[in-house]
Amino acid sequence: MWVFVALPVLLLLVLYAQAIAIPSLRKSISETQQECLNGTNGLVRKLETQSRSSLIQDALNPYPGKPRLSFKNDGTFKITVFSDLHFGENPWDDWGPEQDVNSLALMNTILADEAPDYVVLNGDLITGENTFRENSTSLIDEIMGPLNTAKIPFSSTHGNHDNQANITHEEEIQRELKVAPLSYTRMAPKGVGGTEGPGNYWVPVYRDIKDRTPILILWFFDSRGGFSPNPDSVALPDWVDESVAEWIQSESLAMEKAWGPAELRGALAFVHIPPHAIEILQTNLDSDKNPGLNDDLLGDGSVQDSSTQGEDIPFWNSLNANVKNLHAVISGHDHGNEWCAREPTKDVIFCFDKHSGYGGYSSADWGHGVRNLVFHTPDPKAGVETWIRLQEGDTRARITLDNNYGR
Ligand SMILES: *[C@@H]1O[C@H](CO)[C@@H](O)[C@H](O)[C@H]1NC(C)=O
Ligand SMILES: *[C@@H]1O[C@H](CO)[C@@H](O)[C@H](O)[C@H]1NC(C)=O
Ligand SMILES: *[C@@H]1O[C@H](CO)[C@@H](O)[C@H](O)[C@H]1NC(C)=O
Repeated sequence: MWVFVALPVLLLLVLYAQAIAIPSLRKSISETQQECLNGTNGLVRKLETQSRSSLIQDALNPYPGKPRLSFKNDGTFKITVFSDLHFGENPWDDWGPEQDVNSLALMNTILADEAPDYVVLNGDLITGENTFRENSTSLIDEIMGPLNTAKIPFSSTHGNHDNQANITHEEEIQRELKVAPLSYTRMAPKGVGGTEGPGNYWVPVYRDIKDRTPILILWFFDSRGGFSPNPDSVALPDWVDESVAEWIQSESLAMEKAWGPAELRGALAFVHIPPHAIEILQTNLDSDKNPGLNDDLLGDGSVQDSSTQGEDIPFWNSLNANVKNLHAVISGHDHGNEWCAREPTKDVIFCFDKHSGYGGYSSADWGHGVRNLVFHTPDPKAGVETWIRLQEGDTRARITLDNNYGR
């Protein structure tokens, strides 16, 4: 008997929910969303509205065939930087190949634990001077293995060890593009980058995959170095070529034309060999402000253009003049350094990576790991959290790259 009473009551309840309760619930959700958008940043909200209402494709997007990179729904974006992997050392003994096995294990562990939204390989992927002409880039396939398996988008810069008699930056890039579907590495147009320095490009990151304009630009530069390929191998300049300075300016102008003022976007820059301007910072480090290892004394060959000085100044000037909201410039190369510091003349933060590879020079107490960077909001002016994570999971040198940092 109770069924005849309960059923109509249930039906009435359902009807009530559809008519009144659910729409009011919907309204409160959309209000909350708007409040959030209003709260983060007026700029972000304006951009959002612009792009949602526009059906035009982003003509400047250099990756029409690849998935768009975007912040997660919770507003965060995480980058993990592997540096100086140095694959391919001593292929003629047991020690060399064992180091590559260790480096692959490190990559697999860290990718699984950190689950980054993007990975950067910041140069010296391969110890090129130990490679053979006929199979040097097959090491790229090994390095791409963990990234392909984890299906994480990434891109690379290249270092002085990636330009050697039997290998070049361009060969590594071509191989990477062939074997890694989620590689966003590119080559600059012909004439940009100087001798054996093709790896200059930028990658747009959108707040939402449907947006027309990116909110963050990742810049990658080729600091060259090492040696030109056989048969007449000679030492190459170890700084970002002057032609890159003009290219940064023209790309920045194109971005402003397509997407509006540079202030609307955040930026990060990656280059294997540190800019020359940071060498002097080491004389004045403070373990509170500049936490992390400081075991590599900067001098000859440790920063760009150490011998003649000033060769990377056009690049450095152009980068700092044209790229706005530049959260940091990040380099590897000096395996014993992990610190960040503010470079006062350009008022820009510089950070070292963490030596990741088991190949390459090292010291027992340095450990191996990565640098993580987390954007907690797409607001292009908000600070970015960064720290060093070691293979075993310990973390250190956690700081926030913001306007107060390092002053
Ligand atoms: C968010 O901003 C818009 C535009 O300024 C305004 O119309 C709206 O009322 C705001 N919403 C909330 C929930 O504050
Ligand atoms: C380059 O590769 C060739 C052919 O495999 C090899 O004979 C030579 O030793 C290598 N050169 C260097 C500098 O490693
Ligand atoms: C490349 O070939 C050499 C012999 O020619 C071999 O010793 C070496 O292990 C090979 N390296 C790779 C990465 O396949």
